[in-house]
Amino acid sequence: MRVFVTGATGFVGSAVVHELLATGHQVVGLARSDKAAEALKAAGADVHRGALDDLDSLRDGAAIADGVIHLAFIHDFSNFEAAAATDRQAIEAIGSELEGSGKPFVGASGTLMLPSGRLGTEEDAPLPTTPRRSEEAAMTLVQHGVRSSVVRLAPTVHGPGDHGFVRTLIDIARTKGVSAYTGDGSNRWSAVHRFDAACLFRLALEAAPAGSILHGVGEEGVPFRDIAGVIGRHLNLPVVSISREEADSHFGWLSFAVKADNPTSSVLTRERFGWRPVHTALIPDLEEGHYFNS
Ligand SMILES: NC(=O)c1ccc[n+]([C@@H]2O[C@H](COP(=O)([O-])OP(=O)(O)OC[C@H]3O[C@@H](n4cnc5c(N)ncnc54)[C@H](OP(=O)(O)O)[C@@H]3O)[C@@H](O)[C@H]2O)c1
Repeated sequence: MRVFVTGATGFVGSAVVHELLATGHQVVGLARSDKAAEALKAAGADVHRGALDDLDSLRDGAAIADGVIHLAFIHDFSNFEAAAATDRQAIEAIGSELEGSGKPFVGASGTLMLPSGRLGTEEDAPLPTTPRRSEEAAMTLVQHGVRSSVVRLAPTVHGPGDHGFVRTLIDIARTKGVSAYTGDGSNRWSAVHRFDAACLFRLALEAAPAGSILHGVGEEGVPFRDIAGVIGRHLNLPVVSISREEADSHFGWLSFAVKADNPTSSVLTRERFGWRPVHTALIPDLEEGHYFNS
């Protein structure tokens, strides 16, 4: 397939580009800068210049493709509602071009949108209060003749080059001089290695029926205390418990995630799509040390 990939230069997107090319697909990656265009060419992808807020560029990218994987997102947590609105408009623009074609569209979302404190499954709906509506927008495309599906990713997609939540936790620990968790630290994060996540996006593109929700979750629930423990050990910092109230000032915008208990199943995804995560689990990945070299 000739696949238009937005966010193709990102942490997950660059792994998806590699996975698609390695399995015989062609990739056209969205690039908003010369640097991104060069990175895509070096990876073996074609380049389509444009940006999330240039809706014509998104429609044009979709028009020349047999399918779309949408991974671009503005990760500005200080203005998340605006980022979510841009994302929704981008999905609608791509969807308008794919309308009636039966072509695949694969969007991204996160398991943190699910209710906290119990094992989330593919059959759970996201909390209605979540500002990010990627899933709803992608599911709307199904009614317009698009084979649309969504991969919900664990809060930590990990591996070398990660600049997401775990990298932020490490930066906060360095700044504060302690590696903290809340309460007894038994709240859980699900996790997935970026190469396993990339494989799942490819499987969704190739085979997910319209309306599918897939869980990009390699590990159901890693206790947060264990994550804080490895970080503290590698940075040679004390590992401490703080209250949920203290977490807001300690972790800033990330405190919502630090406090979350987000165990998530991917049993149905594995059964339905034959997905088998094989790459390093989160704690061994942290133990490898690459997170602490810079
Ligand atoms: N990584 C995780 O742990 C995780 C967890 C849950 C969900 N997710 C979701 O998975 C998807 C991919 O995440 P990621 O970690 O790969 O993100 P990332 O590393 O931050 O990459 C973001 C991508 O979006 C592109 N982008 C940002 N703003 C853009 C704009 N205005 N116009 C065009 N492109 C723009 C970036 O392009 P440039 O190269 O030009 O900056 C980059 O390719 C996102 O929807 C994310 O929310 C990720």
